[in-house]
Amino acid sequence: MNQIAQRISDIGVVPVIKLNHPERDAAPLAKALCEGGLPVAEVTFRAAGAANAIRLMAETCPEMLVGAGTVLTTAQVDEALAAGAKFIVTPGLDPEIVRYCQEKGVAVFPGCTTATDYHTAYKLGLEVLKFFPAEQSGGLAKIKALSAPFAMFKIMPTGGISLKNLEEYLSCPVICACGGSYMVTADLIDNQKWDEIKDLCQKSVAILKAARNA
Ligand code: 3PG
Repeated sequence: MNQIAQRISDIGVVPVIKLNHPERDAAPLAKALCEGGLPVAEVTFRAAGAANAIRLMAETCPEMLVGAGTVLTTAQVDEALAAGAKFIVTPGLDPEIVRYCQEKGVAVFPGCTTATDYHTAYKLGLEVLKFFPAEQSGGLAKIKALSAPFAMFKIMPTGGISLKNLEEYLSCPVICACGGSYMVTADLIDNQKWDEIKDLCQKSVAILKAARNA
């Protein structure tokens, strides 16, 4: 596993963030995540200004691992990297984007949910895959079934993960980390509920510890 994937795996839970007002919210959000014990963020390009959010979060908390999500084009890869993103996440598997990141030496985690995706990812030399959208694509049962022929991968599921099912996912040995927006919902961010975000992060860390010590 590369160094970035290892750091993500060590942290264990990745907040998936959409920021509509990065100038207002990026800095306090970064602080809340770090104080809550989750110094990592997948900042999605679903909102204009994602690159700005990445830059502001990385500047506010230099110890934080800030990456870009919902990356759909190589132009967005460039934009994310210029802003300081340390990893790239794509919702689906696009070999062009994967190769582009590999040429640049940047960690890339494409969304994969089928044996065909996994096979293509294997040929591309990937080791860690996003499994998205996790719950809607068959959840843990499908992740386990795919790990039989593809035991070489570590998996980062996102989509439908919450405090309710986090422990179940994290207890599965093929899963290296889980992603989710439950601790950074639009409501929490728009209403600047930083303490609540911090609390949800701390609850996630407690679940992570319980799953890993079991
Ligand atoms: C993602 O892009 O990874 C997902 O939108 C996160 O899914 P969630 O909002 O269901 O946590």
